[in-house]
Amino acid sequence: MENTTIKKQTIFSGIQPSGQLCIGNYLGALLNWTKLQDDYNCLYCIVDMHAITVRQNPAELRRRSLDTLALYLAVGLEPEKNIMFIQSHVPAHAELAWVLGCYSMFGELSRMTQFKEKSVSNADNINAGLFTYPVLMAADILLYQADLVPVGQDQKQHIEITRDIATRFNSVYGDTFKTPEPFIPKEGAKIMSLTEPTKKMSKSDLSGGSIFLLDDRDTIIRKVKRAVTDSGSEVRYAEGKDGINNLLTIYSCFTGKTIAESEKEFGGVGYGDFKLAVGEATADALARIQSDFKQYLSDKEQLNGILKESSERAAYLARKTLSKVYRKVGFYSL
Ligand code: TRP
Repeated sequence: MENTTIKKQTIFSGIQPSGQLCIGNYLGALLNWTKLQDDYNCLYCIVDMHAITVRQNPAELRRRSLDTLALYLAVGLEPEKNIMFIQSHVPAHAELAWVLGCYSMFGELSRMTQFKEKSVSNADNINAGLFTYPVLMAADILLYQADLVPVGQDQKQHIEITRDIATRFNSVYGDTFKTPEPFIPKEGAKIMSLTEPTKKMSKSDLSGGSIFLLDDRDTIIRKVKRAVTDSGSEVRYAEGKDGINNLLTIYSCFTGKTIAESEKEFGGVGYGDFKLAVGEATADALARIQSDFKQYLSDKEQLNGILKESSERAAYLARKTLSKVYRKVGFYSL
């Protein structure tokens, strides 16, 4: 049913170009994004400025930023329907982050779980950017007056602080920012590490626990073969069978079969054969994405064109909010 009087809601999300995207990112996020593109105004930002809060190899960061766009396109995000851009291409992010930093409290930033964790894992580089990371994230979101922010559980605290900063600013200067909601789509599958199935699969795990979208067939099959399971022998979704549950989830996502159908299919089949089937289904699905990815990446002109147009569209929207903010805080304008 058509309803042209209801304005589409705005969705904003960001992904760091630090590391390769894995099937956890794909099944948990990207695949859902493709389903949102007709019903929402979507902005997907490649957050290179967030990425440098931990040390990056410059050549790799540059390459991965473009790879990320090519992957977005390869999974089916259409450039006409989604604004896909690189954070550092739109200066308003850094500009708003400075202002919001003056409305963010040392105490609340000190309480951020991610900051505390990263201070441990990057003990030799606890820089100010790591500390103000959530402020830049708040700027990302608030610039576009986003209604919804699809994120994983680990980023919910950052959405909370974004809401707190927005509310604080609004209460001083009157309505300026929309307060966004976290958006955890019902269908998003949570994919766990193959080697530690109680932990989320991560794009920074290089020890075999993650399947990357660009892994080749043999690598995928080998990783699944080595996946940690339990000492039982039944392919069944059940408590205490984290490894098998995860593989069933992956299988059902890539084949479109339900968990129940998959359990039935592998009734009486050993873990070894089941793992092979999961590996093959994954490799088949990723092969399609990989060939599109290569195609997109071979046309750098096209990718640059998309980035240019998208960042212009983003900058236009961002500028509107930033001008309002500058006016409200009392910056003199010409
Ligand atoms: N912090 C997010 C992450 O690591 C990435 C991110 C940056 C983001 N800016 C954002 C996510 C804005 C959602 C909205 O996953």
